[in-house]
Amino acid sequence: MTFTRILGTGTYVPENIVSNADLEKIVETTDDWIQSRTGIKTRPMSIDENTSDLAYNAALKALEAADTTPEELDLIIVATVTPDFLFPGVSQLLQRRLGCRPIPAFDLNAACSGFIYALDVADKMIKAGRYKKALIIGAETLTKYADFSDRNTCVLFGDGAGAFVIGESETAGIEEIITYAKGDDEKLLKMDGYPLKVNFKTPEQERPFLEMNGREVFKFAVNALPRTVNELLEMTALTIDDLKLIVAHQANERIIDKSARTLAIGKEKMYCNIERRGNTSAASVPMAIDEAIRFGKLKKGDTFATVAFGAGLTWGGAIIKL
Ligand code: ACO
Repeated sequence: MTFTRILGTGTYVPENIVSNADLEKIVETTDDWIQSRTGIKTRPMSIDENTSDLAYNAALKALEAADTTPEELDLIIVATVTPDFLFPGVSQLLQRRLGCRPIPAFDLNAACSGFIYALDVADKMIKAGRYKKALIIGAETLTKYADFSDRNTCVLFGDGAGAFVIGESETAGIEEIITYAKGDDEKLLKMDGYPLKVNFKTPEQERPFLEMNGREVFKFAVNALPRTVNELLEMTALTIDDLKLIVAHQANERIIDKSARTLAIGKEKMYCNIERRGNTSAASVPMAIDEAIRFGKLKKGDTFATVAFGAGLTWGGAIIKL
């Protein structure tokens, strides 16, 4: 039987760092409100690098860590809701920029859960036997869609990219992955697309911004996160004590704290870097896992869970042995 495992990981964030004090000058907010309600102190915000630039730089780091050349890749999947263009996709731009052979390369949109979805698809494509090595990336420049006159949303987001190279393995690495969606008919989290033509004319439309009902999304998240961990534990017949760490989507430190209480575990078992990153949507999970590895919080042989949730509504998770 073929298994898959993580061969290498990498992160890239833009140099420009925006503090809560910077935002105090733009909208009616305070450092105290942002920190106490979200846990965020600073977030990287791209000025001149688009999503494909962030993805490319994270990919180079993951390839180096995996000791893999671009020619060895059989597949590229980029999870993003903020591509440079509607087409070509970020994945196709990367295939060219990295100098890969012609291989399947596509973007995937499942909002903040996108990286877990990409991991699921790549894992199954490798296990089917056709592909050996895949580059999967979560990359976002969400701040370009933030409305910097809306204090409810603009303080939350950051930009960045996290990349994994995963490959065929003789021993189990990625043990279980689950992904789900439940259509958001109440429009709790949405960003408008391009309008339809009316009588051959393009209707007047303001630039789309991200809109969110934060309170309702919070309720969804604090339920989905622990439920997904418990479902994965049941599927793998593991207990929470078998997990070295839980690396969840970084949307709000209070979501992480409340989920730790529901799971009856100490906060130190939930990885948290939102303080320096903000919510980077599909990039948040791979960036946090990469950081946990680099900081020595996850080592070879450790088993950990990862969970994400977001617009769609979507959610999912995985249990992985490094
Ligand atoms: N500064 C100061 N005051 C603020 C700010 C701000 N930046 N933002 C909101 N407030 C005010 C509100 O106006 C409100 O004031 P009011 O009571 O006078 O009306 C008050 O603070 C409380 O607002 P709430 O929305 O209830 O604040 P809450 O504690 O719920 O925190 C937050 C808001 C941080 C958005 C939280 O609800 C949250 O994190 N939700 C989940 C977000 C999430 O997980 N998103 C999913 C991923 S995103 C994606 O998929 C793209």
